[in-house]
Amino acid sequence: MSESPLTGREAAVGVFDSGVGGLTVLKEIFKILPFENCVYFGDVGRTPYGGRSKDIITQFTRQDIAFLVEQKVKFIVCACNTASSVALEDIKGDYPVEMVGVIEPGARAAAERTKTGKIGIIGTHATISSDAYAKCIHDIDSRLKVFSLACPLFVPLAEEGYIDKEATYLIAVDYLQTMKDVEIDTLVLGCTHYPLLKHVIGDVMGDNVTLIDSGEETARATRDILSDTNLLNPAASQTPCPEGEQKYFVSDVPERFSGVASRFLGREVSRITRIDISQY
Ligand code: DGL
Repeated sequence: MSESPLTGREAAVGVFDSGVGGLTVLKEIFKILPFENCVYFGDVGRTPYGGRSKDIITQFTRQDIAFLVEQKVKFIVCACNTASSVALEDIKGDYPVEMVGVIEPGARAAAERTKTGKIGIIGTHATISSDAYAKCIHDIDSRLKVFSLACPLFVPLAEEGYIDKEATYLIAVDYLQTMKDVEIDTLVLGCTHYPLLKHVIGDVMGDNVTLIDSGEETARATRDILSDTNLLNPAASQTPCPEGEQKYFVSDVPERFSGVASRFLGREVSRITRIDISQY
């Protein structure tokens, strides 16, 4: 017998991504909202989204959201930078659940923290071609200068665990030289996978560049929205505060997901169910 989803303030927060990367966002949500129940969907069967067209990314994003809506989640976090920048703004009004993507929180943090007014954005090809971060930053302050760069190789490197390897460092040096040349002082890690490479990216950019982790900022935005809309789980006020439950759903075999997932999340991942996302 399947368990019926919790409702109201006890309902889960739904988080989705093109695959495993959104777990870096979920990790940040666990840190500041440990009492929330969470449902994660990773579209591992169709990952990556970052090199695909707007039409396909939008279709996939709609299906991911439809699945989470069916799970009766109280709030949806689009953890995928690609889906957030290419599709989310156009479609989120079509659903009965509030949503947040990773672009606005990351852009706001960058605009607040830059001192020289020169901000770099790195992400997938689709995120960078959408110009979503730059548009959002310019909506906040049109005087800021934004430099955008696609760094697609960082995704497989992070997934394969190439964190401390020389090859990764060399690729980072090659990619990021243009960012160094224009002397940015703030760099947005505009892709779910990049926080895993924070040390390498930080070493290459140097101490004078502040790195913005969109996942961290999105977790804070999630907490603020849940609090403002009176949707925080009532367990938040219990002492000791009980930990929420987590469920994971994927669109292809769960075995590979579980290995990579524990590295991205920093803890073991269990209760993984495979679903057929094409039905949504
Ligand atoms: N999750 C994607 C993002 O944050 C990276 C992986 C992909 O291309 O699907 O943009």
